[in-house]
Amino acid sequence: MKEWQRIADLSGLEPESVTVLGWVTHHRSSGRIEFVAIRDGTGEVQAVVRADAVSAETWEATRALTQEAAVRVSGQVRADARAPGGVELLVGELALVGASADYPLTPKEHGTDFLMEHRHLWVRTPRQAAVLRLRARIIHAIRAFLDDHGFVLADPPIITPAAAEGTTTLFGIDYFGEAAYLSQSGQLYMEALAMALGRVYSFGPTFRAEKSKTRRHLSEFWMVEPEIAFCDFDENLVWQEELVSYVVEDVLRHASRELETLGRDLDPLKKVQPPFPRLSYDEALGRLGEAGMPLSWGDDFGAAHETYLGSLFSAPVFIHRFPAAHKAFYMKPDPLRPEVALAADLLAPEGYGEIVGGSQRIDSPDLLARRLQEHHLPADTYDWYMDLRRYGSVPHSGFGLGVERLVAWVGKLEHVRETIPFARTLTRVWP
Ligand code: 4AD
Ligand code: MG
Repeated sequence: MKEWQRIADLSGLEPESVTVLGWVTHHRSSGRIEFVAIRDGTGEVQAVVRADAVSAETWEATRALTQEAAVRVSGQVRADARAPGGVELLVGELALVGASADYPLTPKEHGTDFLMEHRHLWVRTPRQAAVLRLRARIIHAIRAFLDDHGFVLADPPIITPAAAEGTTTLFGIDYFGEAAYLSQSGQLYMEALAMALGRVYSFGPTFRAEKSKTRRHLSEFWMVEPEIAFCDFDENLVWQEELVSYVVEDVLRHASRELETLGRDLDPLKKVQPPFPRLSYDEALGRLGEAGMPLSWGDDFGAAHETYLGSLFSAPVFIHRFPAAHKAFYMKPDPLRPEVALAADLLAPEGYGEIVGGSQRIDSPDLLARRLQEHHLPADTYDWYMDLRRYGSVPHSGFGLGVERLVAWVGKLEHVRETIPFARTLTRVWP
């Protein structure tokens, strides 16, 4: 037998004697019996300690337990229909591994600021642990889908010489005396890698000095960025809807315990099936106008507009062909209507707004050179990127999926700050 068992593996082991290692979430006594709830990251189990069945040492140690003390417990696994895992532990021996005095996160309600200040401890609570497990499963599903469809994982640099997504949200760093920036998006490099490998994707942290204090914005977030050679705008949308549907289906199948811990209503998730509805920017303006939220042609959507448009459908919705003037320099204009870009945002239902941004990229060297000028971007910094158009330029497309926004929607969480272990926001870089 193994030296110790994970709590998740106890069920079915009755009536074996096992050892469990974990932390005390709470304990209560009923005279000569103590009930100790122990968690180890895989699950929680109740350990029952009877004064007349253990040594004086074990009894003393048990009586002195405090919240989050680390313990080593040996005992017999017993069936208990009322217990979460279907079993409890009849303790023979209990020893303290690490003491815990005055644990700050008491079982009472705490405000979010206090919890974020103690994020290093908050992650131990069942709900937060479930979010992090859900995140891990979502990342696994994203990568499984892309790996299975011939996408090669290729990592772009994090320290970069230039902006990919506008110069206003750059985090600058001193790179041996030269100016450099933390990457806002690996896209430009992914385009180079797609010309080498065909289908590629990156999976890594990206950084934006966003002055937005909303429930959707982080200053450090993780993005998956597929880039595909010989792929037009329509095919790009198909990849996005297939990927997102796959992830949702995978989570329904493999993260049901986490979704249950989060109290997630599963019905809306079950309705997420491809193809997703497609609404042009112009059609979206029409819908917003009818709803009493009029915008002028060329205006950008705010959070309220995205929330409304997303709520019109049960699956995520693509808003496509945005006015080109306010969009990124690399987006290809629609040949049939050059004032709009072959770009789309994917808006999640249930009020979560944009989860994916993507586009077909400009493949003409002349047009790209002109766009760089119009956007006042220095030609020399982007010269390597121009090479991709000078040497065998092809139609290509890609997109960026924000992992935290996806986790927030799938888990139906209030704020993206709970979807990443240690959130970095406008007001927080601690702990
Ligand atoms: O729409 P964005 O800015 O697109 C790009 O960066 C493209 N270069 C991607 C590409 O085509 N390869 O960002 C993509 C996604 C958004 O849809 C959103 O989900 C997420 O990244 N995102 C953020 N998530 C959290 N906090 C922020 N501040 C975010 N900014 C973008
Ligand atoms: Mg976007």
